[in-house]
Amino acid sequence: MRTHHCNQLRLSDIDQTVTLIGWVNSARDHGGVIFADLRDREGLTQVVFRPEENAALAEISHTLRDEDVIQVTGRVSKRLEGTANEKIATGEIEIIATALNIINKADVLPFQLDKELSNEDLRMKYRYLDIRRPRMTTNLRTRHRVTKSTRDFLDEQGFCEIETPILSKSTPEGARDFLVPSRLQPGSFYALPQAPQQYKQLLMVGGIEKYFQIAKCFRDEDLRADRQPEFTQIDIESSFVGQEDILALVEGLIGRIFREAKGVEIPTSFERMTWREAMDIYGSDKPDRRFGYHITDLGAVFAESTFKVFSGALQSGGVIKAINAKGFSNISTGQVEALTQLAIQHGAKGLAYIQVRGETVDTWRSPITKFLSESEIAAMKEALNIETGDLILFGAGPWEQVCEILGRVRLACAEMQKLLENNTELNFLWVTEFPLLAFDEESSRYVAVHHPFTRPIKEDEEKLLKGELSTDLRANAYDVVLNGHELGGGSIRIHEAPLQSAMFKALGISEEQAAEEFGHILDAFRFGAPPHGGLALGLDRLVMLICGEHSIREVIAFPKNNKGNDLMSQSPAEVDPKQLRDLRIQTTAKKP
Ligand code: AMO
Ligand code: AMP
Repeated sequence: MRTHHCNQLRLSDIDQTVTLIGWVNSARDHGGVIFADLRDREGLTQVVFRPEENAALAEISHTLRDEDVIQVTGRVSKRLEGTANEKIATGEIEIIATALNIINKADVLPFQLDKELSNEDLRMKYRYLDIRRPRMTTNLRTRHRVTKSTRDFLDEQGFCEIETPILSKSTPEGARDFLVPSRLQPGSFYALPQAPQQYKQLLMVGGIEKYFQIAKCFRDEDLRADRQPEFTQIDIESSFVGQEDILALVEGLIGRIFREAKGVEIPTSFERMTWREAMDIYGSDKPDRRFGYHITDLGAVFAESTFKVFSGALQSGGVIKAINAKGFSNISTGQVEALTQLAIQHGAKGLAYIQVRGETVDTWRSPITKFLSESEIAAMKEALNIETGDLILFGAGPWEQVCEILGRVRLACAEMQKLLENNTELNFLWVTEFPLLAFDEESSRYVAVHHPFTRPIKEDEEKLLKGELSTDLRANAYDVVLNGHELGGGSIRIHEAPLQSAMFKALGISEEQAAEEFGHILDAFRFGAPPHGGLALGLDRLVMLICGEHSIREVIAFPKNNKGNDLMSQSPAEVDPKQLRDLRIQTTAKKP
């Protein structure tokens, strides 16, 4: 239907007769001459309907409206001196129309496509129109480049793409399952996979050695900008490998993706940090290292403190830590209050601070300097490198809580100061040696920090086998982080039945329960399971960061909103009562 696309013609094509097809991006009437920008997925070309060229055609062109689909034949000509448009690649030429075929008229649009629209619900309701906008088209095409590069790279490395079931069994990845009722076995349910974790391990037992899958995963959890109920992983597993092999493979893969999808070279190996270091310095297991504000321990400085908040924390085995938000002494009262509320929400009793407004302490604004001695102030100045203009924020209490709170306060300060506003750095990091177990106060038992198939590091294996449990046990688990986002996570797995049984036991899963829920995997480990490990990258997050977007909804064709609704197809929705009868399901829920 066309000879060229709308981003193709240049001065070198002058006088050619061409046919283009696409949507009317805009049509303007300049004294009887109609100028229409024709758009296809590649770009824009200006088409001109001149009465002196073809009066009948010019007459028809007056009926053109935005988003009509038209086919135009015409002559490529140079735009008049001074009318070239530098913003588009075809800006030096225009098409003098000789034929027009109006293929399909468009109704009045629910929103203008050439303007950014803040009403996301409206965008989602008419997602197919939203996708016509160049930003969305580009994002989806970038996503394709990412999956294509992934497949090419992993194929070259000998990996084999294998699909695993969507109707599967509940897997303990930490979120709630989506359930699908079985009609043939009333009262029984499939679970949609939270990840293909067990299947990929069973493929290793099956001798596949190198597996990958662009895998749909489903998790019923609270939704955020970087979380969807269904999302996609680049899921990888390999046999006869250790942590170094997986890390090198993933660095190679991410390097290839950034080269081919974004056109940038990234470091061939990423820096590393243990989970403990990351928490200690950045207060996060996915640190954003594009700015400083490191968390500093002040336990030694305040060892003899008479300030109750500080001495109390140390006496109960806790810590005193602080960050120096450089140059933020002019923080407003409202902002101090917002940071304090953030700290309180996450378990602190308050957020002590000092606004360093001058050299001497009498110029400082702070609720706590009156409790501090001269020598403490001198030692603190040194430890935090305090200068006029700084803002110091303190946390006192249990180690992990203080780290986490100051980690959040640190990010909030950077946001308030707009520190990262035009930052284009790509800061990759491996976080290693995650804890194996966390203690869940509510159920008063241990839970797996990654998942129950993750191996402890060599030094801690014996302890797990002997049941000497604590949150100090370290896992052979690793996350890859980019600019404060968890891009992916994985681990070296348990491949021996006794160690796997010990892990289930540690998690308070009885032998009967383990046999019932995980019998297949425990069985499989009895028939010569190879050592194996892997990782999964969040594809949506990866593409979001490559596209410079702030929400994964911008890189998913048909996403759900934060309530889990698809506003276009109106799902979830009620179903025909007959369908429920077939499934032997009765609902007690009332329509909201
Ligand atoms: P994990 O649970 O860490 O590991 O998930 C891997 C990556 O998937 C992405 N991700 C999400 N993206 C969007 N929306 C969500 N709701 C969501 N949840 C997770 C993140 C995350 O890093 N089976 C293991 C992997 C393994 O051990 O090999 C797993 O699923 O980017
Ligand atoms: P108070 O003596 O309770 O008025 O506390 C003095 C200052 O210390 C106030 O600014 C509180 O916000 C702050 N504060 C209280 N508890 C903590 C804590 N655990 N960590 C950091 N600051 C705190």
